[in-house]
Amino acid sequence: MTEQNNKPEANTLWGGRFEGGVSDIMEKINASIDFDKILYRQDIKGSIEHCKMLVANGIISEEDGKAIQDGLKQVEAEIEAGDFKFSAALEDIHMNVESRLTEIIGPAAGRLHTARSRNDQVATDFKLYVRDACDQADEALKALQIALIEKAEENADVIMPGFTHLQSAQPVTFGHHLMAYFEMFTRDRGRFQDTRKRLNECPLGAAALAGTSFPIDRHQTAEALGFDRPTANSMDSVSDRDHALEYMSAAAISAVHVSRLAEEMVTWSCAQFNFIQMSDSFTTGSSIMPQKRNPDAAELCRGKSGRIIGSLNSLLVTMKGLALTFSKDMQEDKEATFDAIETYSLIIAAMTGMVEDMKVNPEEMRKATDLGFITATDLADWVVRVLGLPFRQAHHITGSLVAMAEKKGCDLDGLTLQEMQTVEPLINEDVFNVLSVEKSVASRVSFGGTAPSEVRKQVENAKQRIG
Ligand code: ARG
Repeated sequence: MTEQNNKPEANTLWGGRFEGGVSDIMEKINASIDFDKILYRQDIKGSIEHCKMLVANGIISEEDGKAIQDGLKQVEAEIEAGDFKFSAALEDIHMNVESRLTEIIGPAAGRLHTARSRNDQVATDFKLYVRDACDQADEALKALQIALIEKAEENADVIMPGFTHLQSAQPVTFGHHLMAYFEMFTRDRGRFQDTRKRLNECPLGAAALAGTSFPIDRHQTAEALGFDRPTANSMDSVSDRDHALEYMSAAAISAVHVSRLAEEMVTWSCAQFNFIQMSDSFTTGSSIMPQKRNPDAAELCRGKSGRIIGSLNSLLVTMKGLALTFSKDMQEDKEATFDAIETYSLIIAAMTGMVEDMKVNPEEMRKATDLGFITATDLADWVVRVLGLPFRQAHHITGSLVAMAEKKGCDLDGLTLQEMQTVEPLINEDVFNVLSVEKSVASRVSFGGTAPSEVRKQVENAKQRIG
């Protein structure tokens, strides 16, 4: 703003046709520098490769090219050292970098923007950033999988109630339960890997939307930036935000998995269940109730999953009404995506720590299987297998025996043979072989089943699969 007439000056980078500058409110609503400055590395890398390409194709001179590249490296060093003054008047990271470059090397800086626009520039920077985030997610998930495999192996024989509807259903092994999450995180890794594969086409050189009349080589910049190829359509290149949407979809689904495990940990660690104990590192005390150990980290993993889902939603809604190609609405992509990336990496790290640290209480888990007639299915299966009755009939017989045990106040193996025979005279002594939870679990040897022998196979297989 000039002091004299109080009228803001036109923007130095795009203000040619403007007589005055923007209002304070316009500056505030327009500026993205507060959040897009984290793209500085990608922005400078993209600019350096663009500059090299311009020189290689005779579009700018070697001399200008060198000055630009040296200048860009200096800008990067200044940002890294914390010496860079970011300015909201310069809107975004692209113009902040270019403006400083102009201060350092003079008017030659203006040649860098030949055959490029901020539209293809931001799309490129953002893709590079999301690509790194996909790689980080994959690595972080692998660490979580390793933690799960280790715990599953240690607990392959530990018997606990398996639930449906949170009612005791059938006995399972804790190792089996943990390996269920391993499978979810395997699929999550696949989704991040797919996202990376699909996003890996370079938008740089699409320019504003229509391509450029300069003799650029888009294959050169694509390759130099680690992309598989340039994007095929310049209009799609600048209007596409699928990479952010796909990242956030993958993160949202994965966060739901984290949230479910977190929810189970909250339940398992309460005094009434007492299946596990969470470590001091991931719990807090209460300022008033000295006995408390609150599973805050698990609760926050559960809570923050909602935030990631929200970020995905916000960008979906932002994009859905936009005509091709770029609209400024799309600047809203960044805060949502950056927050999702940060939040996701935090919850995966916290979950990994919690899994590594949790102490398992096998006796409590085993004790909990004494409740709820948990071997009733085994009894019904025995009636089918040994007495040759149809399953529906076996189900009915077992139901009557459960009612009898309930009335007597005992578990199924607390009934005498005589009592059982009042329901079905053909039942014999052999039935007691299937009523213990140990036998039940050991018998479930179908592929992917809960028997300790199968869980060990799953664990071995998982070790091969994590890559
Ligand atoms: N800051 C903008 C963004 O984040 C960069 C692209 C601006 N392009 C434009 N034509 N105004 O999307």
